[in-house]
Amino acid sequence: MKNQVTEFLFLALLSSCGVNPDKSALIFASGSQSGADQIQINQSQETDAAFLAIRKKLIDVSCIKCHSSTQKRHSDLTSRAVVLKNADDMIYRMTDAWDIGVDNMPPKGNPVDPEIIKEFKVWKSDAQFANLQKSLFEVSCLKCHGAGQTRHANLTSKTIVIEKYDDIIYKVTKAFDESNKPMPPVGKGKKVSPELIKELHKWKESL
Ligand code: HEC
Ligand code: HEC
Repeated sequence: MKNQVTEFLFLALLSSCGVNPDKSALIFASGSQSGADQIQINQSQETDAAFLAIRKKLIDVSCIKCHSSTQKRHSDLTSRAVVLKNADDMIYRMTDAWDIGVDNMPPKGNPVDPEIIKEFKVWKSDAQFANLQKSLFEVSCLKCHGAGQTRHANLTSKTIVIEKYDDIIYKVTKAFDESNKPMPPVGKGKKVSPELIKELHKWKESL
């Protein structure tokens, strides 16, 4: 568990550092200042339970024979981080690839039950949102847009983030050029990195 938490933290940091190395210091600082370490652990446990459920239904039944942790040649689909990273490719190989008849997974036997694929997509979307909560909203927004806030939009809520999506994108991008109340407000934290905004788009598009 501890390793997964560490691994997650590391990945979350990596993904935000990739494009903007100068932001890593800020992410570290805000993370520990707000006591985010504790929250992080609790949320990871929840997400792990969700992962274990999908792993039991999908991976253990249809994929583990060739994609286990002892397999060196193919990705280890018993790891949450690896699954999340390969999720779109996995979905493609379980669906469209069957129509084409190339690259389909599992390579032999029957395709995976569409209901299970649907559950996998829901898990993927939730896991991506949880990642965004930690790497983007918690770091840059929740100080003023937290769950207990009544005056500003509660950006811990998936429903509200979806509802205000266009406005959120505007506030973290063009609003800076137009000096139209950008977010986070000037002097209240660094701009959200383009890499994280891309992650946000990716999550929204796959809903
Ligand atoms: C009988 C063995 C076998 C099973 C079962 C199997 N795979 Fe694969 N998988 C392979 C092989 C061989 C490759 C490499 C060839 C390729 O890229 O097409 C591969 C490649 C992949 C890749 C590309 C990344 C990589 O690891 O190389 C994904 C994603 C994938 N499989 C997903 C799945 C999913 C999801 C399942 C379960 C629904 C599954 N596989 C079940 C044998 C298997
Ligand atoms: C330091 C406090 C603070 C931080 C940090 C902050 N905001 Fe805000 N936010 C505000 C205030 C204050 C308003 C109201 C501004 C106004 O319209 O006068 C607001 C308004 C908004 C609005 C439009 C009105 C609404 O609430 O629906 C959006 C969207 C928004 N913020 C998104 C974000 C996002 C996304 C982040 C993080 C990237 C963020 N904010 C970070 C204080 C903050």
